[in-house]
Amino acid sequence: EELLRLSLFSTMAKPVSIEVYNPNGKYRVVSTKPMPGTRWINLLVDQGCRVEICHLKKTILSVEDIIDLIGDKCDGVIGQLTEDWGETLFSALSKAGGKAFSNMAVGYNNVDVEAANKYGIAVGNTPGVLTETTAELAASLSLAAARRIVEADEFMRGGLYEGWLPHLFVGNLLKGQTVGVIGAGRIGSAYARMMVEGFKMNLIYFDLYQSTRLEKFVTAYGQFLKANGEQPVTWKRASSMEEVLREADLISLHPVLDKTTYHLVNKERLAMMKKEAILVNCSRGPVIDEAALVEHLKENPMFRVGLDVFEEEPFMKPGLADTKNAIVVPHIASASKWTREGMATLAALNVLGRVKGYPIWHDPNRVDPFLNENASPPNASPSIVNSKALGLPVSKL
Ligand code: DGY
Repeated sequence: EELLRLSLFSTMAKPVSIEVYNPNGKYRVVSTKPMPGTRWINLLVDQGCRVEICHLKKTILSVEDIIDLIGDKCDGVIGQLTEDWGETLFSALSKAGGKAFSNMAVGYNNVDVEAANKYGIAVGNTPGVLTETTAELAASLSLAAARRIVEADEFMRGGLYEGWLPHLFVGNLLKGQTVGVIGAGRIGSAYARMMVEGFKMNLIYFDLYQSTRLEKFVTAYGQFLKANGEQPVTWKRASSMEEVLREADLISLHPVLDKTTYHLVNKERLAMMKKEAILVNCSRGPVIDEAALVEHLKENPMFRVGLDVFEEEPFMKPGLADTKNAIVVPHIASASKWTREGMATLAALNVLGRVKGYPIWHDPNRVDPFLNENASPPNASPSIVNSKALGLPVSKL
């Protein structure tokens, strides 16, 4: 394996360290960030790519930084959700001969897909590999908020514990309460199952589409509990989001972010929730009006939130950090080793597939064959979100 470390200087005189694999490779693929694992690099190198990985000290790269990385000849780019992939970047990539861009994320609200279509550039994302990991973080935040884990930890470390007390950090029991899920797609459904199965919560969900599989699961689990002499769990598909907000004790948000879901949870809707409810967000920050949330947290000390995402990352709205009833973590929902390595692999294979002219995988919900480390992946791009718009062929495998 050939590896070079080069120090390049961009037009803005920023020192940029680029790690280069397979310098004589036929296709130039750029990754705007180092990504976990090495499989993704090996897969690209094995199929004739020169891989360039950018190591720039600052976390969020600007459009200008990325234009510099694209340069005059670039076949494809693997990028991050912190980058603004719009007209300017797709035009630059197209001029450099590029065919594909893949986000290393399932969400792609940072990508202007229309602009990509205009330049004939395929846009990849990474579904399937992060479903359970993300749902597990939503479950962790739910438990941490319900049982006040972070406050209690701070109390302990602060040397304040003087002995057991009947009132010390009393929280909420989840068993028998109602979990509300807004957006019951892959991640929302996985979370719902965890909370229903693990904690015997009843489910209420809102989604434009019926989640038959989820309903069947809860029904069957309810029957199982009943047969064992336990209280069965129940489910309900709500006819409005407001119904979920009013009825649930714990609510987790799993919609995609678009114009229709911006500030979905605002001042009025927060007011509909139970005073002691728990709200969890592992989707995208702007789904909640964060300033309104801060006010709500201040006025309702028994209301708690677990947030993985923020309206203007990396910042928090003023006052949020001072609220004891909020748990905040830095957008780490997909951060398990297996998932992050898998995301890197899917993103790399999305780009590789287009560069090599392979078809698009027929089912982005079933990407397991790409993640098997003991076999070569199929010759296909696992998930290209604009494949239809670009008229790309679908793999028949
Ligand atoms: C995504 O994939 O969209 C997450 O926000 C990061 O894993």
